[in-house]
Amino acid sequence: MNVLRAQGLGKTYSSPGNIVYQALEDIDLTIETGEFVGVMGPSGSGKTTLLNLLATIDRPTSGRIEINGADPAALSDKKLALFRRRALGFVFQDFNLLDTLSIKENIILPLVLEGMAPNLIEQRLEPLVERLQIAGLLGKRPYEVSGGQKQRAAIARALIHKPSLLLADELTGNLDSKAAPRMSWMRFRR
Ligand SMILES: Nc1ncnc2c1ncn2[C@@H]1O[C@H](COP(=O)(O)OP(=O)(O)OP(=O)(O)O)[C@@H](O)[C@H]1O
Ligand SMILES: [Mg+2]
Repeated sequence: MNVLRAQGLGKTYSSPGNIVYQALEDIDLTIETGEFVGVMGPSGSGKTTLLNLLATIDRPTSGRIEINGADPAALSDKKLALFRRRALGFVFQDFNLLDTLSIKENIILPLVLEGMAPNLIEQRLEPLVERLQIAGLLGKRPYEVSGGQKQRAAIARALIHKPSLLLADELTGNLDSKAAPRMSWMRFRR
């Protein structure tokens, strides 16, 4: 089954002086359940733009997207927010961890928002903490930990609700050469 289908995706950015910049043109992409896909390209080639469209954070200028057979563009803002929170996991290029929360609170936030019982949350957290080796970081704030540690926390947050699609921008960009290959376990998790 396809978890994601994108057809003819295009994105143009227009700046205040009405200068139009075409960041993406006519992208077709299908991702099957369980498939692991990497997108490579030089800086400025549109990787983050594409991920933002697939993550429904930004809307395409042309083309359409289906995730689990549904078109996110057809959803109201409220339903879209719920859909994003339940079906998608996203690791941002700059992590987007909240500085007012501890690392643990950041990671469990998606489950807290869903109203999950605390003991179930702990059960979900435990294997991720072990896999990502972040036990020592849980009580710290994001500004107290390193870039690679923030990235591992962001990966845990993106996985804790078991999304059907995990999108990651520069997933291992801040990890060292030992930690980066270890992230390959994620593709076999389900
Ligand atoms: N909000 C925006 N408004 C205008 N132009 C933008 C905007 N965001 C991105 N761009 C332009 O679109 C192009 C693609 O940017 P994008 O961030 O998708 O690249 P990238 O492949 O992720 O690069 P990097 O590897 O450096 O992260 C760039 O030329 C960028 O300047
Ligand atoms: Mg980018």
